[in-house]
Amino acid sequence: MAIHRHDNHKSANAFMEWVDRRIPLTKVWNEHLAEYYAAKNFNFWYYFGSLAILVLVIQIFTGIFLTMHYKPDAALAFASVEYIMRDVPYGWLMRYLHSTGASAFFVIIYLHMFRGLIYGSHREPRELVWLIGCVIFVALMAEAFMGYLLPWGNMSYWGAQVIISLFDVIPYFGPMLTEWIRGDFVISDATLNRFFAFHVILLPLVLIVLVFLHLIALHQVGSNNPDGIDIFEKVDEDGKPLDGIAFHPYYTVKDIVGVCGFLIIYLGIVFFAPEFGGIFLEKDNFAPANSLQTPPDIVPLWYFTPYYSILRANTFNFFWIDAKIWGVVFMALSIVVFFLLPWLDRSPVKSIRYRSMPFKIALVIFVAAFILLGWLGMNPVTERNTLLAQIGSVAYFAFFFLMPWFTSIGKTKPLPDRVTQHEH
Ligand code: HEM
Repeated sequence: MAIHRHDNHKSANAFMEWVDRRIPLTKVWNEHLAEYYAAKNFNFWYYFGSLAILVLVIQIFTGIFLTMHYKPDAALAFASVEYIMRDVPYGWLMRYLHSTGASAFFVIIYLHMFRGLIYGSHREPRELVWLIGCVIFVALMAEAFMGYLLPWGNMSYWGAQVIISLFDVIPYFGPMLTEWIRGDFVISDATLNRFFAFHVILLPLVLIVLVFLHLIALHQVGSNNPDGIDIFEKVDEDGKPLDGIAFHPYYTVKDIVGVCGFLIIYLGIVFFAPEFGGIFLEKDNFAPANSLQTPPDIVPLWYFTPYYSILRANTFNFFWIDAKIWGVVFMALSIVVFFLLPWLDRSPVKSIRYRSMPFKIALVIFVAAFILLGWLGMNPVTERNTLLAQIGSVAYFAFFFLMPWFTSIGKTKPLPDRVTQHEH
């Protein structure tokens, strides 16, 4: 028996040697998993990177099955989704996993970005990790926007109408550009077909490539940690960080805890509240697209509402330029500012644990403004709501543009020598 096991082992080794001489499998495994050292004090906030990968895989998997029965044709699309829901075996499950997955993706990405912000992961030397992340965020928004047109519901139609016509404000080129994007003078079958092509193949490919680059960039410089200090400053005689542990098996196993927690909440929503009170699947989208019937309130899905509020907030014609044009400029800027973060933050420390009070106050105001804007974007425009959206927008931009100032004032706490870890 023992001889057998020994023999098996030997032949497995010989096989791996054969493979490794031809493709560097063991080398890649070691570099990125078994010998990738990360700080031993990763906490709750570090689950969201691996969860984002999980949701990307779920979206691609369920998307493939939806594509088998969906019809990208303005005359058939709405009915084909109903057919998936009612007649295709487990079609309802694939669709709810996919529609809930879209919202879950944004919840996870917002928490993942927030982690970066509180632990200073956007700072030197991880600027490119952050910048690639920002490009992923924009690509993800494009992916979700195009996916939303596919069921060809009335909100799909009017949502796309509103967002595409934003390009109209670009001087001279605007009208040509909008016509080119739609492939027609109005949202039509041509628009649906190209959005389908982008949603099922182009953008998923772009996302996969970007995630790959994101991880390559991260592994080049190493992961940050909740203390925001460099673990490679204290290494043992083999050059391994004293406060580091190998990603595999320690974090691969730990991430399973995150996956279980996530699946409980995600599947709970899929099975018991897939519409999530009209927040994940909007009521107006249960009626087919109708170019003659505008919904009373055109509202994007929740993950776009903070930017939608910023778009609608401005009522002033600065420099004789129309308020609506400024609205589009401010909305674009509200996303572009994320790219500037590594250079706006001047704090001598990275982690919130050691940052000064002004930063903490600014962060709380920013989070409150983001939630307020998100809520306002789901609600009708009234005089009071517009005023609140203006206050929220000012607070939102103040966080970024005053950052060089409030991160350089106030007293920071001294950094620890080694990462800090509380016993469980
Ligand atoms: C499909 C979307 C994304 C996926 C699959 C993804 C995946 C990951 C993974 C697996 C990690 C390493 C594990 C971890 O530190 O949590 C990571 C780290 C990181 N990600 Fe992402 N990410 C995505 C989007 C983003 C976005 C939108 C941003 C920011 C704009 C971002 C910024 C970062 C940063 C700064 C780190 C390093 C964190 C640290 O070391 O503390 N990521 N990402």
